[in-house]
Amino acid sequence: MRVLVVGSGGREHVLVWKLLQSPQVKKVFCAPGNAGIAELAECVPIDIDQLEKLLEFARENKVDLTVVGPEAPLTAGLADLFLEAGLPVFGPNRAAAQLEGSKAFAKQIMEKYRIPTAESRIFTAADSALAYLKEKSAPIVVKADGLAAGKGVVVAATPEEAAVAVRRIMVAREFGEAGNRVLIEEFLEGEEVSVLAFSDGQTVIPMVSAQDHKAAYDGDTGPNTGGMGAYSPAPVLSRELLLEVEEKILRPTVAGLAAEGITFKGILYAGLMITKTGPKVLEYNVRFGDPECQTVLPRLKSDLPTIMLSVISGRLSRQQIEWRDNHTACVVMAAGGYPGHYEKGEIIAGLAHAAQLTDVYVFHAGTAQKDGKIVTAGGRVLGVTGWGSSLTEALQKAYGAVEKISFPGAHYRKDIGSKALSREQ
Ligand code: AMP
Ligand code: GLY
Repeated sequence: MRVLVVGSGGREHVLVWKLLQSPQVKKVFCAPGNAGIAELAECVPIDIDQLEKLLEFARENKVDLTVVGPEAPLTAGLADLFLEAGLPVFGPNRAAAQLEGSKAFAKQIMEKYRIPTAESRIFTAADSALAYLKEKSAPIVVKADGLAAGKGVVVAATPEEAAVAVRRIMVAREFGEAGNRVLIEEFLEGEEVSVLAFSDGQTVIPMVSAQDHKAAYDGDTGPNTGGMGAYSPAPVLSRELLLEVEEKILRPTVAGLAAEGITFKGILYAGLMITKTGPKVLEYNVRFGDPECQTVLPRLKSDLPTIMLSVISGRLSRQQIEWRDNHTACVVMAAGGYPGHYEKGEIIAGLAHAAQLTDVYVFHAGTAQKDGKIVTAGGRVLGVTGWGSSLTEALQKAYGAVEKISFPGAHYRKDIGSKALSREQ
């Protein structure tokens, strides 16, 4: 089987790595990939927004399966294009991808199908949003409707801060068209967890749980990022809670979309807050979470391309998906300044040392090759992932490797997994 992976982050690196473990997979291409992926797969210089070029490449190179990593090509209709051409593609079509592409659409589905979520109102004009804020107390959450690389959400501590966010999104248009509409949402208290599931539009099979760390700095302080680390399993999600999430959230979401005439095929990712009154949806994503998938996919025992093909053909109900019993932890090493402005092109040292360690793998996110060296090329640079029979062991492996790696300005959280560890004690 010949596989094309679309994307260039840590998520795509772990996807390539996992797909290559399948005896079915003979060759993997990645568009555009990164320096780490280039060690495993053939990287092709096509960007994720060049939909027609991706299709042409897949056709010309007899690709049997295309796996789409990030959300942008999905909301732009990459899967639709491939399906029309009769090429197998893993990822939802444009209609289904709206679940992530429009927070207002997602909210409407949740309200219609009674899926637990925060109460919220949608506004198309800044004036009415600002007037509404005057009646509300803080904390309160302001969200741009469209895709904003995880930066379109502001958890405001005061009504003034919320008003600033509304103005930035709707008046200053910091996220462009993503700010055509704004959601103002009730603040939910609790612990966050991500649940990812495979769905073929009918059957939904959850994966093992994972927890992300969105804030930039230790103790969940600082600005929100794409994710600074993760671990799996997440003890906050007990067996009972996972069943509840399946019954009240995952299945009704897929069934609700089906009732709207939308078939959801791919990864349904529910970002949840575990509140005192049960799990509630904060957001949906329509793809693997990054860095969550660096901790989830290494635990997958079953053959990944087989699962993906059964999703595409609508035969997921016949699949048994097996997982390893171990623990994994991923520590993201980011560029100095991330999630704000950061430099690129810093030389990364110590990768060869880290590669000699056992039970740890360095997934590349923002890296590139330059003059024979591996340099930084993005905000999140590496996702250093360790595994073991306990979370403590997985963390020791990951941090052990992190200590061997350096680049100017590098920063990472030192407290990945500490919430789960304090729960165990
Ligand atoms: P989202 O992109 O919608 O998941 O929002 C990004 C982050 O903002 C989430 O991971 C939460 O940490 C926080 N957040 C979003 N919505 C809420 C909410 N209603 N209450 C509290 N925190 C929230
Ligand atoms: N780690 C969160 C995300 O992938 O959206």
